[in-house]
Amino acid sequence: AGKRTFTMIKPDAVEAGHIGAILEQITASGFKIVALKMTQMATADAQEFYAVHNERPFFGELVEFMTRGPIVAAVLEKENAVEDFRALIGATNPEDAADGTIRKKYAKSVGENAVHGSDSDENAKIEASFHFAGREMF
Ligand code: CMP
Repeated sequence: AGKRTFTMIKPDAVEAGHIGAILEQITASGFKIVALKMTQMATADAQEFYAVHNERPFFGELVEFMTRGPIVAAVLEKENAVEDFRALIGATNPEDAADGTIRKKYAKSVGENAVHGSDSDENAKIEASFHFAGREMF
């Protein structure tokens, strides 16, 4: 299994002041931060990042949400990173997320769900490269 995944702390969780608590839970769970930045996606960035969802009814809402304020983007390293990180964040819908998961604790709804986690090793690479130059990943 791959050793790296990509995450974003989304605008809802940044607005609510949860950056520190979420990064603490991530590192306490055995992930090493190998890239990190605060940034804001432009509309065109979000449309490209989420292009796989562009036929979905929630696409417009998703792009509006992801561009409304800053995010924190990070690349994380751990054995089995993609799968273990998805377990740590919990189900997309916080109502379905297990107790103690990041989404259970911090997400407001299926749309405003606090964090992103890559769904495959291949997408982790694509998403990390979307947000970080090679010299920003350690
Ligand atoms: P994520 O899995 O990180 O990437 C796709 C995002 O689309 C997902 O998080 C949610 O933020 C959003 N999303 C998924 N399903 C819905 C939905 N039914 N309504 C609104 N937003 C959604």
